[in-house]
Amino acid sequence: MLVTRGSGRLFDVETGCELAPEIAEIPWDRAATELAGYPDYMTKEIHEQPATLRRIAATSRHHVRQLAALIGQARDVFVIGCGTAGHAALAEQYLLARIAEHRVTFATASEFQYLQDFVTRGSLVVALSQSGETIDVIDAVRAARGRGASIAAVVNVEGSTLWRFADHAVPLMAGPERCVLSTKTFAAKLAILMLTAYELARQGDVGCACIINAADEIERLLAGDRRDLIRRIADEISTRDHLFVIGRGPSYPLALETALKVKEVSYVHAEGFAGGELKHGVIALIEPGTPCLVLAPRDETHDDILAGAMQVKARGAMLIGVSPEPHEAFDYHIAVADLGPATAIVNAVPGQVLGYYLALLRGHDPDKPRNLAKSVTVK
Ligand code: AGP
Repeated sequence: MLVTRGSGRLFDVETGCELAPEIAEIPWDRAATELAGYPDYMTKEIHEQPATLRRIAATSRHHVRQLAALIGQARDVFVIGCGTAGHAALAEQYLLARIAEHRVTFATASEFQYLQDFVTRGSLVVALSQSGETIDVIDAVRAARGRGASIAAVVNVEGSTLWRFADHAVPLMAGPERCVLSTKTFAAKLAILMLTAYELARQGDVGCACIINAADEIERLLAGDRRDLIRRIADEISTRDHLFVIGRGPSYPLALETALKVKEVSYVHAEGFAGGELKHGVIALIEPGTPCLVLAPRDETHDDILAGAMQVKARGAMLIGVSPEPHEAFDYHIAVADLGPATAIVNAVPGQVLGYYLALLRGHDPDKPRNLAKSVTVK
């Protein structure tokens, strides 16, 4: 690009020919990029989750209906993303199965190239990304289109590479996310994907109500005693080397996400596991006092996950239960209302807040963890 006073001209690097750019105006609220009284962007963005969810419930129906129709018509559907976006993609596999009885295949975007043989004309690839610039996602959708697939994208940054590339793009409308950690855009992705599942099941109104309930519960969680309780838990475990997080079914992606939030911001080694995998190896790592966070919503996973929790408790683990009701095995209980499938959106928040307090207690900047970039644009 050749930039001169008052103008900019665009050229093709290979041919040298001048290009005629398509000019699109991106709405950008400058105030949204400022701290607005919060101590850091991580706190600000965690607290923006209720507003983001309400915005989605109020304005996303049109985009989501189109996405649901594409998913319904496609011969097969792959949902991809990296890191936090990958966890949202995995959650979509459960949400669509549970709410709409619809099968999609999850893949980590950086692994998708090894599954591309299954992508054909008639396939739909749904790519999730906050930035819309993650190289593993961009490469995956380019290759998929080369095999004849259609591309749908759920993206926060409108006008980004993925946004422009997709046949159908759904905006997350979460506003700028400046902290390197994704928090509000994870909630936004879950909300969009949950709404999509409800639209596919022809229950869009139920989906919107669920998302508003999740917004209200997150607001209560962040305002009240529960946040102080999480701070006390962080205090107790801040010198520990490991944290294990377990969840089953729809809570399994949440266990992965909780562990990612804790490790990337606090550098405490945290691992998320499917609760049923405990006996297959993980339980060997449990020692007296090892903190273990248990996601136990009131759903079909409830009894089994608590049975697993009892097993780690019997080996001396210190249990932090995230559940609508207390349990004798919990050393700490973070109460989260039972909101049906929308509980997943709320259950991401204790991990965000725990990671945040652990980072502060260990003397780290929550907005700029070492070695990480907000957007990974090179391999
Ligand atoms: C999130 O907390 C991470 N920093 C990271 O995993 C991120 O989600 C991943 O790099 C994907 O980014 P994207 O959503 O911009 O594609």
